Amino acid sequence: MPNDSLTVTDNRTGKQYEVPISDGTVRAIDFRQIRVDDDDFGLMTYDPAFTNTASCRSAITFIDGDKGILEYRGYPIEQVAEHSTYLETAYLLLFGELPTATQLSEWVHNITYHTMVHENTKKFVDGFNYDSHPMGMLVGTVAALSTYYKDGKDVDDPASRELQTWRLIAKMPTIAAYAYRRTRGLPIIYPDNDLSFPANFCSMLWRQVAEKDYKPDPVLERAIDVLFILHADHEQNCSTNAMRAVGSSRPDPFSATAAACAALYGPLHGGANEEVLRMLDHIGDIKNIPDFIKRVKAGEGRLMGFGHRVYKNYDPRAKIIKRTAYEVFDLVGRNPMLDIALELEKIALEDEYFISRKLYPNVDFYSGIIYQALGFPVEMFPVLFAIPRTAGWVAQWREMITDSEQKIARPRQIYSGNRGREYVPVSER
Ligand code: CMC
Repeated sequence: MPNDSLTVTDNRTGKQYEVPISDGTVRAIDFRQIRVDDDDFGLMTYDPAFTNTASCRSAITFIDGDKGILEYRGYPIEQVAEHSTYLETAYLLLFGELPTATQLSEWVHNITYHTMVHENTKKFVDGFNYDSHPMGMLVGTVAALSTYYKDGKDVDDPASRELQTWRLIAKMPTIAAYAYRRTRGLPIIYPDNDLSFPANFCSMLWRQVAEKDYKPDPVLERAIDVLFILHADHEQNCSTNAMRAVGSSRPDPFSATAAACAALYGPLHGGANEEVLRMLDHIGDIKNIPDFIKRVKAGEGRLMGFGHRVYKNYDPRAKIIKRTAYEVFDLVGRNPMLDIALELEKIALEDEYFISRKLYPNVDFYSGIIYQALGFPVEMFPVLFAIPRTAGWVAQWREMITDSEQKIARPRQIYSGNRGREYVPVSER
C-alpha cells in the first residue's frame, strides 16, 4: 500500500478504497467510485463556499495565512512593494519572471499606448446618472469593452490574449477616472502618455482642464503605485474565482473581468474598505470604541477591515499600507479617522473575542483611510482596488485558459427540494 494514499472504508458496504494523495490533496472525483450499489451515483464531496477545496493549480501567488506570508511568483510582497512598480509587478504576475530592462520598456510602452478608450465610451459613461456608484459604472463599462474588441473572443489565440491583456490593464484607470469625473460633473481628461501609470491616473482624476504639464507629487505617485502593487493579486479570492468561473465558459476576457468587478463590489470583499470608513465615521470618537466593540461581540455587525478567510495572522499588506499611510499624511495632512482606527486596532488585538478567532487587520483596514486623505469619496474605494487587481485577474484567467486540466466550471449540488410533484392549475391552488 503506497504511503501517499488514503484508505477509506465505506461502512455502508464494508468495502475499502485506495485514494491517492498528491500535493496534500485528494481528488474529489476519486470518491465517485464509492457506491452502495450500481444505481448509486457515487460519493461526492460537499464544500459550500470552497472552504477546503483547491479549484486549480496555480503558480502565481503564494499565501501562508497562518504565518502571514504573501509572495508574487515567489517574491515576498515586502520586497516587491519596496523595489518594484505596479506595471513591473503586473508583468511578473503575468509572465512569471521579473522583466529585463528591454522587456520592461516594451511592456510599459504597450500598456501606455492602450490607455485610450473608444470615444463612444464617453457617451456610455454619460448615460449613467450623476449619482451612480462608480463601481456600477465600472462593471457596466468594462463589460461594454467586449462590444468594441470583438477579437477578445479568440481566447485560444495567444496573440489575442496578449492584446486583450494590454487593453484591460491599460484601460481600467481610464474608465475609473471617467466614472469619477462623471460623479463630479467634470469634463473628461484624456490619458497622458508622457506620465507613468500612477501619475497618468492622477492626471485623469485631478488635472484641471486647461492645466499644462501636470505632474503629481512624487510621494503621491509612489503611494498610489504601492497601493496598486499590494492589491495586484491574492490567489483564489472571490473575484478571482468569478473571473476563472466565468472565463471557463470562454467568453471574451472583458465580460469575465466585468463579472470579477461585480464580485469585488460586495462589502465582504473589495467593498470592505468603503465599509471601514463608514464604520469609523459611525464610531465618530475614540470614547465610543468600547461600546462599538461590545456590539460587534454581541453579533450586531462586524468589525470591518478585520478577519480574513486565509490570513489567521496580521495581513502583510496591512503592515505596508499602515507605513504608506504615514507618508501620505506627511504630504496631505493627517486623516482624523486614523486615530480612531489605531485605537480600534489596539483594543481589538487585545480582546479575547478577536484573539481566539484569529481576527487581525486586513488590507482594507488602512487603505480606505489613505484614499480618503487623498480626497476620494468612499464610493471610489472598490474602484481603486479593481484597477490593480485586473493584473491578477488576467494572469489567473490566462493560467486557467492554458491549463489542460481545466474545463467549464460546473459544481454539483445536494438536491434538497421536492420531487415528482403533480402540476396543479392556478384555479385549484
Ligand atoms: N468582526 C467580527 N467578527 C468576525 C469578523 C469581523 N470582521 N470576521 C469574522 N468574525 C467572526 C465570525 O462571526 C465567526 O465567529 P463565530 O465562530 O463565533 O460564529 C468567526 O469570526 C469566523 O468568521 P467567518 O465568517 O466564518 O469567517 P470567513 O472566513 O467566512 O469570513 C471575512 C472572512 C473576510 C468575510 C470576514 O472575516 C469578514 O466579514 N470580515 C469583515 C469584512 C472584510 O474586512 N472583508 C475584507 C476581506 S480582505 C480583502 C478582500 O478579500 O477583499
